[in-house]
Amino acid sequence: MPQLNKPIVFQSYMEHLATDGAETEAALASAFRSILETTSRDYGFAVRAVHAKGHALVRGELEIAPDLPAYLAQGLFAHAGKHGAILRFSTNPGDLLDDAISVPRGLALKVLDVSGERLADAPEMNTQDFLMANGRTFGAAEPKAFLTMLQLLARTTDRGEELKKLLTLLLGATQSMLHLVGQDSNLLARLGGAPNVHPLGETYFSQTPFLYGRNIAKFSLEPASYELRQVKGMKVHAHARPDALREDIAETLIEHGGVWHLNAQICTDLATMPIEDPTIAWDEELAPFERVATLTIPPQLTWTHGSSDHLDQRLAFSAWNGLADHRPLGAINRVRKHAYRMSSEYRAAFNHCPVHETAAFDLLPA
Ligand code: HEM
Repeated sequence: MPQLNKPIVFQSYMEHLATDGAETEAALASAFRSILETTSRDYGFAVRAVHAKGHALVRGELEIAPDLPAYLAQGLFAHAGKHGAILRFSTNPGDLLDDAISVPRGLALKVLDVSGERLADAPEMNTQDFLMANGRTFGAAEPKAFLTMLQLLARTTDRGEELKKLLTLLLGATQSMLHLVGQDSNLLARLGGAPNVHPLGETYFSQTPFLYGRNIAKFSLEPASYELRQVKGMKVHAHARPDALREDIAETLIEHGGVWHLNAQICTDLATMPIEDPTIAWDEELAPFERVATLTIPPQLTWTHGSSDHLDQRLAFSAWNGLADHRPLGAINRVRKHAYRMSSEYRAAFNHCPVHETAAFDLLPA
């Protein structure tokens, strides 16, 4: 579907800086640290503060579409061509949970050999990361609301079993629980009430907006090949299969690989497509997701017990790793910067395992 209205040209006044931003950021860091300390004590090794459990870690190729119209041919997408790529599927919490617990699934894409001006403090030299989850919107409108939710999780993160109980509790949550987290029932669905469906059939969304050259965009990654579309909405049978997602993903990708479309949704109206409130989905009639690149993952092993766990630790993805042309926008995105860095540095130090993305790419099964 073609763009109906003119893309908004980003200007700095469009972002709102909170006066207590630093305070909230420090409280978030402390909540994340408490999760990291608890899980690393329980497991004997450190895992990500959120999205701890990986279900597949694979390599492939991202092809930037040729002949994009000028408003889409910006930043990474300015030049047609192919880039190496690493893709990681995950589940939201910071614990290594049984896959029977249905919480949001995540997807992280690292595009290699990217040139152009970097974001200040971007942790890597020439990669561009995209982090997404299988829902159009984020659960909190602004950092303080997110902090309330995170503090609740941090307080109850002890062992995997304990968190499972919490999530089960949340599933049957009542209005009083809604009051506690300060959000609507949609949020509780995110915390444990989502249908347990095959991760390969899902479309993943950046939820928050990013610069797109001169303009503003959200991103999505959408299944395109036949085998991926076949598993859309398919229920995962996870009873007595704690790693059901690794097994189900492997079943499809080992034999067929997969193809996804990377799409950009360009903001055309700030009033209905706000930068600052990621709980609001941008209207796809007014601003459709348009394909800007194609990701191809050839058939390969998707998770090998031991070696994939090790490679997983050598990798870190961050919304703030990439080009200045794709700077994360809005308050929720701003507080992510420190959190990602802290989590990956904690892992690297605790596990004595430096993060090294290119080496990880070379070690992934071809
Ligand atoms: C706004 C929507 C968000 C999306 C779509 C998202 C998505 C993701 C994904 C997919 C991962 C896993 C990366 C991997 O595979 O290594 C991740 C990790 C992480 N996220 Fe987010 N996230 C969001 C918001 C946030 C916010 C608001 C914070 C904190 C303020 C945060 C903090 C983290 C941290 C600390 C990690 C672990 C990083 C590491 O140890 O490497 N995320 N996120």
